[in-house]
Amino acid sequence: MSIEDLKSLMEPGRVVEDQEVIRTYIDDWTGRYKGSTSAVTFPHSTDEVAKILSWCSTNQVRVVPQGGNTGMVGGSVPLNGELIISLRKMKNVSFSNTNRNQIVAEAGATLLEIQNLASGRGLMYGVDFAARDSATIGGTIATNAGGLNVLKYGTTRRQIVSVEAVTGTGKVIGNLNGLEKDNTGYHLPSLLCGSEGTLAIVTRAKLKLWPEPEETVTILFGFNTIEDAVNLTEDCMSTNTEIVACELFFQKGVDLVRDAYDLQPLWGNKNSIYLLCEFAGDSGISDRLSENILGEILQTHNSVLVATTDRERQRLWQYRELHTVAVSQKGIPLKLDVTIPLGNLPHFLDGIDTICGNINPLSLPYVFGHVADGNMHLNILQSEPNVAEMEEEILKFVVSLEGSISAEHGIGRAKAPYLHLQRNEHEISLFREMKKAFDPKGILNPDVIFLTCS
Ligand code: FAD
Ligand code: MLT
Ligand code: ZN
Repeated sequence: MSIEDLKSLMEPGRVVEDQEVIRTYIDDWTGRYKGSTSAVTFPHSTDEVAKILSWCSTNQVRVVPQGGNTGMVGGSVPLNGELIISLRKMKNVSFSNTNRNQIVAEAGATLLEIQNLASGRGLMYGVDFAARDSATIGGTIATNAGGLNVLKYGTTRRQIVSVEAVTGTGKVIGNLNGLEKDNTGYHLPSLLCGSEGTLAIVTRAKLKLWPEPEETVTILFGFNTIEDAVNLTEDCMSTNTEIVACELFFQKGVDLVRDAYDLQPLWGNKNSIYLLCEFAGDSGISDRLSENILGEILQTHNSVLVATTDRERQRLWQYRELHTVAVSQKGIPLKLDVTIPLGNLPHFLDGIDTICGNINPLSLPYVFGHVADGNMHLNILQSEPNVAEMEEEILKFVVSLEGSISAEHGIGRAKAPYLHLQRNEHEISLFREMKKAFDPKGILNPDVIFLTCS
């Protein structure tokens, strides 16, 4: 078997062996995972994906499906010479012809392309986050991406109505019937969403769209205690039906972003804890906000910035959205993406400082995230040489707080050694049986989710 055989099955240009081209696909976004491969394939259709996977299955060639390569857990690059199947050339998007509130997208379409198409019809796609210009529909389905609007619209799993995919033996499964109610056996969209390319390669999906809100208000609050910030978060969640996003971040991260992007200080840095809340709905939302719990806060609290225009809102969001890139400009962080029950958040934050300080006093933990979902991102700079010790200690601490070791980025290769902290042995062996059913030769992302499959 040689790659020439595969080439002979495909249109010209679908299989690239030029290392100059390949080198832009083999390292992950964080810089922690550096891969290598002899070829990248660029299928243009479901049939071509099926042809490639059938050939790989017959010839026992292991593959890594790749979308925008913005994944955070080392799941999208070939660490053992795997063939990359890049979905980037599959970018068709169109409105469904049977339901005007649905979009049909090929796997390589980006979040931004979906958002732009939807907006043209006064609709919106429920998932959004800073990597919107490169994260793809296939990748966000594979990782069940969350992002900024989970509080109101849910994770990617809530957006998929139908899915089409190709199994590890090259069989096309699923459909694009776009039926919200189709209880005919196991629900493939739910099953494949979050499977991280280990069960099948997603080729197309039918996605639900939501009405675009008439008015959006973004409010940034400064606090000095985490309890106050969590209380306001819970108040908003329990009283305000129009809350869309609630993001928590801290002075250290704001200082890093400000330095990196030359931003103004917020209230002369007199606070240390920041809560960014976004509300969206029918026009008149500003008045409605002043009538409910926010009215009092907006009167009495002296660190509040209210943004109603797109420009003002983007100015506030950059203090949060630029955290990931600002941290990565300083080095390769140990990236943790955990969920903590809100009531345990203060304890978590204290514990993190203690663990990092005890293991490596020079380490620099930055905490920020989607606080309404309990999803905290921990990016720790200067964690070497104690990376594994720190990671294990923190993940065990998270589990002790009844949290999750992975909130939205998935398991990938990064968290595979810790899956047993979260799932029991019966579940993990069941996962392995499921994988064998979809991918009997174990060629799809073999080291992702599970420690080496073979
Ligand atoms: P890739 O990185 O290419 O792949 C990710 C995984 O999916 C890999 O295991 C890959 O093998 C698999 N895969 C890719 N395409 C397919 C397919 N078609 N079929 C089957 N498997 C496939 N994520 C969040 O959830 N929330 C955030 O708020 C968030 N913010 C981010 C901010 C920044 C600045 C960056 C750089 C990333 C952020 N991410 C966030 C992480 C990342 O964008 C998501 O994990 C996203 O879902 C990855 O999409 P992708 O197309 O880049 O996938
Ligand atoms: C974000 O929400 O900014 C990312 O998911 C966090 C991260 O990159 O760690
Ligand atoms: Zn996130």
